[in-house]
Amino acid sequence: MAKFPITLSRFIIEQQAAHPEATGEFSVLLTQIGLVGKMIAHDLRRAGLNKILGTTGETNIQGEVVKKLDQIANDTFVRVFEHSGLVCVLASEEMEKPLKMVHEGAKYMLLVDPLDGSSNTDVNMPLGAIFSIRRSKLGQRQPVEDELLQRGTEQIAAGYVLYGASTMLVFTVGQGVHGFTLEPSIGEYLLSNENIRIPSKGKVYSVNEGNYHRWPSGTQKYLDSLKVQDKATGRPYSGRYSGCLVADVHRILLGGGIYLYPGENDKPEGKLRLMYEGNPLAMVVEQAGGKATTGTMRILDVEPKALHQRVPLIIGSAEDVSQAEAYIQGRA
Ligand code: AHG
Ligand code: MN
Ligand code: MN
Ligand code: MN
Repeated sequence: MAKFPITLSRFIIEQQAAHPEATGEFSVLLTQIGLVGKMIAHDLRRAGLNKILGTTGETNIQGEVVKKLDQIANDTFVRVFEHSGLVCVLASEEMEKPLKMVHEGAKYMLLVDPLDGSSNTDVNMPLGAIFSIRRSKLGQRQPVEDELLQRGTEQIAAGYVLYGASTMLVFTVGQGVHGFTLEPSIGEYLLSNENIRIPSKGKVYSVNEGNYHRWPSGTQKYLDSLKVQDKATGRPYSGRYSGCLVADVHRILLGGGIYLYPGENDKPEGKLRLMYEGNPLAMVVEQAGGKATTGTMRILDVEPKALHQRVPLIIGSAEDVSQAEAYIQGRA
């Protein structure tokens, strides 16, 4: 018999009941992230009709062309959290400096990639949003940037919204990973993927292979190895790459395999951002039983030096990621 649907709010309230010391603010914070997801999903559904495709003409701190939807998604996070009293600082891929929010006693720091996969905006392909939540010990008494620059192990929650064929909210508060699907007719997220476990090995690789000739030889050899015909080891792997990190990692979280945005010979730091992309996805994937590495060290242990710092990201099934590390480190 089908179980009565569990809404996001009910799930959060039940989880909170196990922590009598909790004030409920954190639960509201997660619900508000869900709200941002609903608002953006609403915009995306009719984006091609409402003249919100294309670029703003600006360039962001990452040196990237800003899409109108990047701006809209960032503004939505700001609007939802500005007067919420929940977060004392909001840091975003799209904002050079963290935005301080004047609220006495707001405990949380929120870091976001407000719209992930923005090259997909104009072609009706999947998009996402990524979030990382940390607890502030200092409030606003200290320069905010210093407190934000802590390792990924300090995250207390992380997750993403995937705007695909349906909208999903996937998150962890350090006790497993749970997925909720937005039921548009009632505007509620319903539990659809409880306690997600990533397979220990997969058959899919996800990487922008156009960059092959820029990679160090260990990375090239690893990719070559995935194409070898060998039934016993499940090779060749299938290649799947959407250009949206959230969507590509989501596929691997559910079905197993490996996602790579590796370091390049002339750009050893890779492309993706440690604080907004690498750390939150690493927490999710580790909580589901997988691994996330730079090639030489665990992502969550990387000591951040700057808010917009980039990091090579190799993430997915534990066995696949360990194998990639062996090649990158010259051990295979
Ligand atoms: P964002 O849209 O937030 O800037 O992120 C883009 C990222 C990520 O979504 C994707 O995996 C990757 O960049 C795609 O990069 P390439 O076009 O170089 O493959
Ligand atoms: Mn970007
Ligand atoms: Mn991104
Ligand atoms: Mn982005």
